[in-house]
This record gives sequence, C-alpha cells and structure tokens, in this order.
Amino acid sequence: MNAYVKTNTFYISIWIWLILGVESYSGWSNHVLTIYPGGSVTIPCHYDKKYTQQKKSWYSEIDKTYTYTNTTEQNLSVIDHPDQSLFTVTMRNLQNKHTGNYYCVVETGEQPPINITYELYLKIQSTPDVSLMSSSVSGHEGGDISVQCLYSSGYQNKVKRWCRYKDQRCYTVGRTDTSQNPSVQISDDDGGRSFTVLMTGLRRTDSGWYFCSVGDAMNPVLITVQRDDENKSMCKQPYIEKSVH
Ligand SMILES: *[C@@H]1O[C@H](CO)[C@@H](O)[C@H](O)[C@H]1NC(C)=O
Ligand SMILES: *[C@@H]1O[C@H](CO)[C@@H](O)[C@H](O)[C@H]1NC(C)=O
Ligand SMILES: *[C@@H]1O[C@H](CO)[C@@H](O)[C@H](O)[C@H]1NC(C)=O
Repeated sequence: MNAYVKTNTFYISIWIWLILGVESYSGWSNHVLTIYPGGSVTIPCHYDKKYTQQKKSWYSEIDKTYTYTNTTEQNLSVIDHPDQSLFTVTMRNLQNKHTGNYYCVVETGEQPPINITYELYLKIQSTPDVSLMSSSVSGHEGGDISVQCLYSSGYQNKVKRWCRYKDQRCYTVGRTDTSQNPSVQISDDDGGRSFTVLMTGLRRTDSGWYFCSVGDAMNPVLITVQRDDENKSMCKQPYIEKSVH
C-alpha cells in the first residue's frame, strides 16, 4: 500500500465514521442524565448476545466500585435480563454526592478484556434539564402511546430527539426526512418547555428502552406494548363447516 492509498483510506474511513456517526447518533459518551434530589432512575445496559454468559457490571467512577449483575441493595439494583441482552441498573434515593460518571461494563473473556457498552454522566439537579412525565409507558398492540418530554428553559434551542437504545435509531424534532418512520411523530409543544412523541400502530417489537434527549441531556423510558388478547378472545373465529363433495 503506498502513502497515497493509505491517506485516502484514512479519509474514507473518517467519512464513513462521520456518516454512520451522524445517522446512528453515536453521542453515547456525551449522555447527561439529570435527576432531582431524592429521585430514582432505571438505566438499560444493552450488550451483544455473545456476552450472555459473561460477567457484567455497573461501574461508579465516584467510589470506583463495580456492582455485578443480580445484586439488589437498598439504593441500587443491577439485574440481568439475558433473554433481552441487557441488564438494568436502578438507582434510588439519589443525592448530590452521586453526581458523576458511570459505565456499563462487560467482561468479554477476550481482547480487549473489558467492553464499556455505555457511559453516562449522572447529574443531580433540583430542576432537571430533561425529565419525563412518566418513565414507563405501556400501550396495546395496534394502539397509540404518547410520551411527553420536559426540558428546562435554557434548552429551548437545542436539538430534541427520541431514540431507541437497542439500535440507536433517533427521530428529531423538526426534521422532515422521509426515512423517518411515519408511525413516530415528534413535535415541540406550545410554550417551548416540552415536546411530545406519538407512536401509532404499535407493534410488540416496539417494546423496549428509549430515551428523549435535548442537546446532551437525556432521560430513559421503558415502552411496553401488550398483546391485545382481550379483543382477540371477544371476536372468536366463527365455526366454518367444511363442505364435503
Ligand atoms: C440509601 O439512601 C438513603 C437516603 O439517602 C440513605 O439514608 C441510606 O443510608 C442509603 N442506604 C445505603 C445502603 O446506602
Ligand atoms: C440473573 O437473573 C436472571 C433472571 O432474573 C437470570 O436469568 C440470570 O441467569 C442471572 N444471572 C446470574 C449471573 O446469576
Ligand atoms: C464492544 O462490543 C461491541 C459488540 O460486540 C463491539 O462492536 C465493540 O467494538 C466492542 N468495543 C470494544 C472497545 O471492544
């Protein structure tokens, strides 16, 4: 490989990285989660299926501790959900002293031995920059749900997004892009202190962890789409007699 080709490959890589980075919103390292004092939060840590059997933990940079999966303490739970390839971290009774960096860690059993799958800066604030009316919303198959995301006054002019953790897909307020799924509508509310996400024609596969973000500030929410069993049992299939000729 000569220097010219090498340089070109380098720039092409940068371009691909930029394009992919913009499309998939690789702003993971900039996530700032804001919670009010005394509040609680649950954070999902997705991992690759191949790490189902490996050790996984939540690392706190403040006290330099790893809390391994399936630990339940008074103010901290770290629970593995191998069927969904994620573990959840619930922090309760949050105080100012909890402000700092946290990481989702997988011990890969290969090189590199540690994979940080997600990093987060947790900030305790009496008026959170971004918050949700509810951190868990459920709906029925085929139905609709709406999620309201609130933000503080200083964030009015920042980019507002609704993203799915699993595939890092995002919808952006004010972006009229045909590649965005029309079953997700996201609009700024009057008054400029909140935006609303409307998901219509829900499918079971829409279940999972999402977050709303304004600039770097974000907040996670769990969406659960329930099977519409009730309706199904009410309209039973009529018995059709098979005609024999
Ligand atoms: C949990 O949080 C409460 C309120 O901050 C505190 O009083 C208590 O000591 C904490 N428990 C543990 C085990 O750290
Ligand atoms: C943790 O708990 C989940 C179920 O809650 C279980 O499937 C998993 O095997 C457990 N993991 C460990 C390491 O015990
Ligand atoms: C962590 O794991 C993911 C999924 O397997 C992989 O794409 C990524 O490159 C890994 N990161 C590091 C630093 O090894």
